[in-house]
Amino acid sequence: MAASTSLFICQACGAEHRKWVGRCESCGEWNSVTEEAAKQAAPGGLKGAKRGRKLTFESLSGASEPPPRLVTGIAELDRVFGGGLVPGSALLLGGDPGIGKSTIALQAAATLSKAGVRCVYLSGEEAIDQVRLRARRLGQETAPLGLAAATNVRDIIASLSAERADLVIIDSIQTMYLDSLDSAPGTVSQVRGAGQELIRHAKESGTIIMLIGHVTKEGQIAGPKLLEHMVDTVLYFEGERGHQFRILRAVKNRFGPTDEIGVFEMTDHGLDEVPNPSALFLDRRDEDVAGTVVFAGIEGSRPMLMEIQALVAPSALGTPRRAVVGWDSGRLAMVLAVLDTRCGLAMSGHDVYLNVAGGFSIREPAADLAVAAALISSLAARPLPHDGIVFGEVGLAGEVRPVSQAEARLSEAGKLGFGRAIVPSRKSSKNAKPTASTMNLNAIGELGALVDLIYGNDGRR
Ligand code: TYD
Ligand code: MG
Repeated sequence: MAASTSLFICQACGAEHRKWVGRCESCGEWNSVTEEAAKQAAPGGLKGAKRGRKLTFESLSGASEPPPRLVTGIAELDRVFGGGLVPGSALLLGGDPGIGKSTIALQAAATLSKAGVRCVYLSGEEAIDQVRLRARRLGQETAPLGLAAATNVRDIIASLSAERADLVIIDSIQTMYLDSLDSAPGTVSQVRGAGQELIRHAKESGTIIMLIGHVTKEGQIAGPKLLEHMVDTVLYFEGERGHQFRILRAVKNRFGPTDEIGVFEMTDHGLDEVPNPSALFLDRRDEDVAGTVVFAGIEGSRPMLMEIQALVAPSALGTPRRAVVGWDSGRLAMVLAVLDTRCGLAMSGHDVYLNVAGGFSIREPAADLAVAAALISSLAARPLPHDGIVFGEVGLAGEVRPVSQAEARLSEAGKLGFGRAIVPSRKSSKNAKPTASTMNLNAIGELGALVDLIYGNDGRR
């Protein structure tokens, strides 16, 4: 009867199959399906109750206070949490291996424990000595937090029930296992089962639990969507390996904004906060360079200026190369198609390389116009003035659409010494008030006008 007690689960998307298949029918991934034992009752599940308890229903209007928050004192971290940690909440901190997840978690726990908060750090990946070494490097070896190397969830919950900690860090969820499940740590069933038990403990005891999770090459936390919907807050730690800057981004937050970011710099003594990052990703130089454009973006509640670099070169290939770092390749394809079709620029015969300087990754559609400007400038070999910024969204018809918070973008650029801007001519209905900035504005209604602006009037097109 082995067949009826086994399930075949795709490790990439979590889909269940009746038999082993080489390719998951749900997500199309190859060799991702592994055999796992069928789900069994987890320890403490349903608490042995034979019959369900009758619920009392409440009205929506009740005297519920806003949740009290635990402020870590690391301002960039508290900003991403939405003003501090909420007791009883579960967080998932994801990121590539080596990006600094253990470091930021240990720094937060050490800082909190010095302020009298009871913190426990459970390491399943590193031995106690390694964590101690890291703490020494961070200058936090005197912080009174509880440290243990453990991977068995049953032991962990038993210890936590006796200990009564305020904050528990699990590093990482992929190393934790439930002994009631047959499959290996890191498989979908184990990640789901162990995550569920730990989160249930957090909710029952009012403990804050932070699960650290590694991201797979596709950018999903392994055991992926399963954990994301079980926790209250999902944070991603991102950054390019070769750069020292790290961005902590909230992609889901039941207790705060989701588009907020925290900026850190990796130093030889841990992660330092970067409280004013607006000019961080700018590679300022004084001469004009073709293909380089400064984009005035908004990240969360903060304006940030970023440099977008494009290189458009004639291609010898049948299918020209498109390489993007820091932006969505689908969006680049769209901007290229619009330039090709609506503006008559022969982008399809060119290789295109696009890069966001400093290892930042831009998500805003407002960068469309800046990308288009960088592409046109590189193709035309005509630089844009180095004291100019660009922002605006581009539609499929070649129209340039207004974007949110235009005033904030302009005033930040003004503060940093920029004197001109290429902006959408249409105003968004929400902020129809006149522009008070002293910038030299070039308002553009459709992409063709941008092409004319960069090429000038000498008809080289
Ligand atoms: P780590 O927190 O172990 O990453 P993760 O838990 O996400 O896998 O960080 C590892 C990297 O950070 C490693 O390459 C060394 C570097 N690092 C520093 O540069 N300075 C420091 O003070 C620390 C603790 C780590
Ligand atoms: Mg780690």
